[in-house]
Amino acid sequence: MAADGTDSTDIPFERIPHPAPVPGATRDQALADPGFGSLFSDHMVQIDWTEGRGWHSHRVGPREPIALDPATSVLHYAQEIFEGMKAYRQDNGDIALFRPEANAARFNNSGARLAMPPIPEADFLAAVREQVLADRDWFPSLEGGSLYLRPFMFASEAFLGVRPAKEYKFLVIASPVGGYFKSGAPAVSIWVSEDYIRAAPGGTGDAKCGGNYAASLVPQAEAIAKGYDQVVFLDAVERKWIEELGGMNLFFVFDDGRILTPPLTGTILPGITRDSLITLAREEGLDVVEERYSLERWREDAQSGKLLETMACGTAAVVTPVGKVGGRDGEFTIGGGSAGQMTAKLREKLVGIQRGTIEDRHGWVTKIG
Ligand code: PLP
Ligand code: COI
Repeated sequence: MAADGTDSTDIPFERIPHPAPVPGATRDQALADPGFGSLFSDHMVQIDWTEGRGWHSHRVGPREPIALDPATSVLHYAQEIFEGMKAYRQDNGDIALFRPEANAARFNNSGARLAMPPIPEADFLAAVREQVLADRDWFPSLEGGSLYLRPFMFASEAFLGVRPAKEYKFLVIASPVGGYFKSGAPAVSIWVSEDYIRAAPGGTGDAKCGGNYAASLVPQAEAIAKGYDQVVFLDAVERKWIEELGGMNLFFVFDDGRILTPPLTGTILPGITRDSLITLAREEGLDVVEERYSLERWREDAQSGKLLETMACGTAAVVTPVGKVGGRDGEFTIGGGSAGQMTAKLREKLVGIQRGTIEDRHGWVTKIG
């Protein structure tokens, strides 16, 4: 049931049969070790929006290429937003989503910033549900695997004037995934980008739009070239305060029972994992603060031992310890460079709720199918 009282199961979807789904044996082989983001399921959802008519033509059918006019607005002015969420196959066979209403709400916040029409929560939730039900055979068989869902929306009008488009397409695709990071390493290493910024006040930092990720590719490549896994961005104004990674929020755990995460001031993506960890950390008795934290203090606190752990979190990355940080002024390690206890505890709690092995006391889990 959506917040406005509409039942998402009432939204009518045309279900187009797939003429040639991937053969079961081929699919099952791929599902044993899917990696991240390169294996795709059989189906996709599409809904169209046209000025004057609104959302229409809800359908789920075979995943296939989309033909676009070369003047399609998104190809020129990047009017595009997306979400990242996961469906989990629980031990008893149930399929669960984690806080999908939060993804719907963030999607519409992103859309508002990019001058795109809102999609009703019930339509968003129904689209995700249709996608998962159509692809219910696409859950990875490996431990910790899930079906990553990518709802997205783009300006589909063929028009080169710079103004909000009058036509949009909303789609959902699905990708069976394992871990985001290559397994083996106890913690990830991150590189502080001091030459590039991700988001400035008044910009699009708190919107999940493709352009933010395009702008993160050069600094991310720089991090890899320096031998690190991920890039961390500083604020655009003082170039001093830690913001977030290219696709994850950060938490810092101290020896006095405090856990800090940078505040949502408009330049950081409001992560749903971030929000959930704030609640779970409070339940663990930690004093959660949303405060600015500088690169300088990060280095000092790591070196003095005041900072016990740093964790990166997001739907794709789940909760991942940060062991090593490098930047212009050299490198420092956190908690001896290995995974910390609180990171492991919070990860276990979050994953347990998502997978149905720990009681969901917050109404975060939605069962489908
Ligand atoms: N920050 C950025 C820039 C992201 O792309 C993501 C991933 O979606 C996050 C943070 C974490 O958000 P969430 O926990 O909702 O996945
Ligand atoms: C996610 O965690 O869902 C993200 O979108 C991060 C990245 C894969 C873009």
